[in-house]
Amino acid sequence: MDIKEAAIQIDSLRQQINENNRRYYVENAPVISDYDYDQLLYRLAELERQFPQLDTPDSPTHRVGSDLQAGLRFARKEHKYPMLSLGNTYSIEEVEDFAARAAKIINTSFTYSCELKFDGAGISLTYRHGRLVQALTRGDGVVGDDVTVNIRKIAGIPHTLRGSGWPEDFEIRGEILMPFSSFDRLNAEREDAGEEPFANPRNAASGSLKLLDSEEVGRRGLMCTLYHIPSQDIQNFEGHSQALDAAASWGLPVSDKRRLCANIEEIKDYIGYWDTERKNLPYATDGVVIKINSLEHQRDLGYTAKSPRWAVAYKFKAEEALTKVLSIDYQVGRTGAVTPVANMEPVFLSGTMVKRATLVNEDFIRSFDLHIGDTVKVVKGGEIIPKIIGVDLSARPADAALPVFPTVCPDCGTPLKKEEDQARWYCPNAGACPTQIKGRLLHFLSRKAMNVLCGEATIDQLYDRGYVRKPSDFYQLQMRQLMSLEGWKEKASSRFLESIEASKKVTFDHVLFALGIRYVGQTTAAMLASRFGSIEALAEASYEDLLAVEDIGETMARSIYEYFRTPSELEEIERLKAAGLQFDMKENATQKASDALAGMTVVVSGTFALSRDDMKALVAAHGGKAASGVSGKTSFLLAGEKPGPEKVKKAEELGVKIMSEAEFMALIGAGQPEAAKEEEAFPQDLFGGMI
Ligand code: IVH
Repeated sequence: MDIKEAAIQIDSLRQQINENNRRYYVENAPVISDYDYDQLLYRLAELERQFPQLDTPDSPTHRVGSDLQAGLRFARKEHKYPMLSLGNTYSIEEVEDFAARAAKIINTSFTYSCELKFDGAGISLTYRHGRLVQALTRGDGVVGDDVTVNIRKIAGIPHTLRGSGWPEDFEIRGEILMPFSSFDRLNAEREDAGEEPFANPRNAASGSLKLLDSEEVGRRGLMCTLYHIPSQDIQNFEGHSQALDAAASWGLPVSDKRRLCANIEEIKDYIGYWDTERKNLPYATDGVVIKINSLEHQRDLGYTAKSPRWAVAYKFKAEEALTKVLSIDYQVGRTGAVTPVANMEPVFLSGTMVKRATLVNEDFIRSFDLHIGDTVKVVKGGEIIPKIIGVDLSARPADAALPVFPTVCPDCGTPLKKEEDQARWYCPNAGACPTQIKGRLLHFLSRKAMNVLCGEATIDQLYDRGYVRKPSDFYQLQMRQLMSLEGWKEKASSRFLESIEASKKVTFDHVLFALGIRYVGQTTAAMLASRFGSIEALAEASYEDLLAVEDIGETMARSIYEYFRTPSELEEIERLKAAGLQFDMKENATQKASDALAGMTVVVSGTFALSRDDMKALVAAHGGKAASGVSGKTSFLLAGEKPGPEKVKKAEELGVKIMSEAEFMALIGAGQPEAAKEEEAFPQDLFGGMI
């Protein structure tokens, strides 16, 4: 792979990772599995290792603070045997098919080991001479992270084995789980600290394993259950189940919920029993694993490329519960959007007590014809917030009331408004609605914005005292003011002030996100920061300039344009500037690679090895200015494959030079084979700024 191809792939991976981070952390609604997410990160890390000149400090692989990314700090090691997955089935018929296929090959009577399918983070432990010497995460199945230091802190995993008969050198695999009680406690702590809660115990377990602070891992209340010893490592055992019994006798944590089954009827009983009974377990399970017990038969059956032929997973259906809607709250967010939230009769669902569910917006309520007092069906998928998926109309009580959507803001009483083609009502009193102001202040300090640890309670205190009304007020806070707050002592107060002071170093992309411009999320903020380089350039951008940026649609362009034409916002920016915040990418994306294009205006058209936006970024990095239309002021038209015919025609008419990609690369000193030249053409920060 050459550097250009790598740059393209790196850019694409970073965008995907950031989008998934947003879905995971901000929306609590991950759309890809942890495993697939890890794959993206690993691929990116690999490319950055291969092409260090494309690595940037703000790549998602280096981001600190996020548990998920921390994993990249661990040594990566190859598994002795790949960690495979299991074939999934969702019906008893498919399990019967599995049994029939196995019977064809085995030809004698045999037994199955039925076990729970634990929903945590996969782990592979190596014991040598009876001592725990290594613990690898699953990783991509071939290479995992060496998290031995963290594993040693988890209760119940022996550092040395007891008893006798253990192989001198063997691996044993299983799952690290976060029990529901630990999960609830951890998330409550995270919410208090203003951090995003984990979406589910699985994410929490895998995030915890990759923490850099192993003491913290110890405090997280994780547990382990082991369920597989690769048969190569246990030659002298007859069956899988006997090997696990032996492992238990050596002090290893092995589940006691296993059962040997002689036929499909017994398998069905086991599945039927645990489908209900699993609700009483203190940890998450998502199915049953059925394994052919004899190790000899396992060897005969072997593996497909992805999974063993001797085992199959039966997945439970997502848990549903019926409960009653008691009332509806209408919550105002920092952007003024009003979200209806159902208060329900508490119901136990997937291990936690559920009493609230989002109702998204008025249309969502109408689509179910939901009434207060209705019995609703709720499910919990990968998300924290349960979803209502149906209403039992037959159970509607006679006095069930149709919800009345408020016409005024529940907080400040201002009449609500609705924008055309938007489903949400919002409170237009952005400047004075307390809930919106507090929401914006909290957002301003949040981890991915100014990164000042601060929870809702503190914001309430600061707001109620009148100390803080707008972000710039944080930078005027005095020690004596903080110490006058209830429960605040000298240490906490000075720590808070220190962290506010430290936020002055937070880079422009984060500051831009912190401003809370409507529709501008973290990724967009970072992209705008890198494209425009400074708040002044962004503030001057016309609506068309904004629209010309990839991924910026009309709504977003309008919102940004209007933001910078609102006097109160501009005044606030001035105050924040005066406080010393970063409003340009000084040491980042705009760092000049050369002055080769100084004073030139370049129009980029057609397709290139890099994306068009990256070509424009290259123009900027070499001192030029990228423009959208060919005119008398254009220095040259940079034409890739299939350039716009209109642009070519105009350039020809005006006598503007048309330059090929190769000529351009030569002009900016890129494209030469030596590494040094390549580094110059792809300056470190050029691609990083897009995150
Ligand atoms: S046996 C060769 N047993 O589910 C496969 N896996 O989707 C050996 N899992 O990668 C795995 N509970 O992380 C096995 N009782 C159990 C399990 C289990 C959970 C996980 C494991 C595996 C994944 C497959």
